[in-house]
Amino acid sequence: MKFNEGMLREGSLEGKNILVTGGGTGLGRSMGEYFLKLGANLVISSRKLDVLTETAKEMMGKNGGTVVPVSCDVRDIEQVEAMWDKAKSELGQIHAVVNNAAGNFISPTERLSTNAFNTVLDIVLKGTSQVTLTAGKDWIAQKQDGIFLNIVTTYAWTGSGYVVPSAAAKAGVLAMTRSLAVEWAKYGIRSNAIAPGPFPTEGAWSRLLPGELVKKFDPAKKVPIGRVGEHQELANLAAYLVSDFSAYVNGEVITIDGGEWLKGAGEFNNLDQIPQEMWDMMEASRGKKL
Ligand code: HXC
Ligand code: NAP
Repeated sequence: MKFNEGMLREGSLEGKNILVTGGGTGLGRSMGEYFLKLGANLVISSRKLDVLTETAKEMMGKNGGTVVPVSCDVRDIEQVEAMWDKAKSELGQIHAVVNNAAGNFISPTERLSTNAFNTVLDIVLKGTSQVTLTAGKDWIAQKQDGIFLNIVTTYAWTGSGYVVPSAAAKAGVLAMTRSLAVEWAKYGIRSNAIAPGPFPTEGAWSRLLPGELVKKFDPAKKVPIGRVGEHQELANLAAYLVSDFSAYVNGEVITIDGGEWLKGAGEFNNLDQIPQEMWDMMEASRGKKL
């Protein structure tokens, strides 16, 4: 067994229909592909239908099953409602929703236009709330159980400069996850979140580490475990959280970051730059008058 192999047993998601927003690229694609391998049928949605159609074709070619591509800008409630209707008309009832679509880029906050700030808020917070409300209202009306899995970040609770709209929006998504976990549990609806650390994707890397920055700020160096994440590791966790194996997990945010955010938070964690020889010298001189 290796950490980057599929974890759940074959057929674990058999009979489940799962909607993944932002499912045509990056982590959404990797999670969706694993759900498909485990027997689920998928709806993948985002703005770019050509990307989704190609992804769906490749996924089905590799794994079989059904992948329905649906274009939808999550900022537009009419498109969200049309996506939900289309998902149901293609697959029947939807059992789980992964709110994965996001927009982000780095910038000093004072350089952001109002539209730039609102664009990220609208995709991440408003987009997630619109998809959640549309699915949740329908599940409640149909008296049907449902599962939400929201992809956030660790700076949802620490905050972070230079990605302030994203931090504010992800914090909102996390609050919504925990709030609805309590309020909608009575309807058989569970809500959980995953906070990934750095997992290389074209979408995130090109916007958060553009150009030379990727050489200057190697994300692996910030991670105590000493590496970035592999997509299958995240897919394993996501598959567990949309499966019935996690039936008693509700309102949780699970961090998968190799210890990254804690390292950044600890006041003295940067002392790992001190070489062993210096610790030896300090140990040897302990108790001696300097
Ligand atoms: C400053 C910027 C900007 C930048 C865009 N804008 N990029 N401002 N710095 N780098 C401004 C524009 O000038 C415009 O404001 C406003 O933002 C909207 O830009 P548009 O290009 O018109 O928006 P749109 O086409 O809707 O694209 C949305 C986007 C884009 C967010 C700007 O990057 C996108 O499509 N992203 C989707 C995928 C994505 O971001 N993936 C990464 C997720 S990673 P004005 O005032 O000029 O009109 C992630 C990881 C978190 O979330 C944690 C990692 C560890
Ligand atoms: P990505 O490939 O850029 O994924 C973002 C997806 O969202 C894209 O498929 C994009 O597709 C879609 N999207 C953007 N705006 C949209 C809109 N208005 N309506 C509908 N869909 C929209 O980046 P990623 O790294 O895989 O990110 C996936 C998730 O993981 C995000 O929630 C991100 O915040 C989170 N995350 C990533 C990392 C990381 O290290 N990669 C770390 C922490 C959290 P279109 O362009 O076709 O719309």
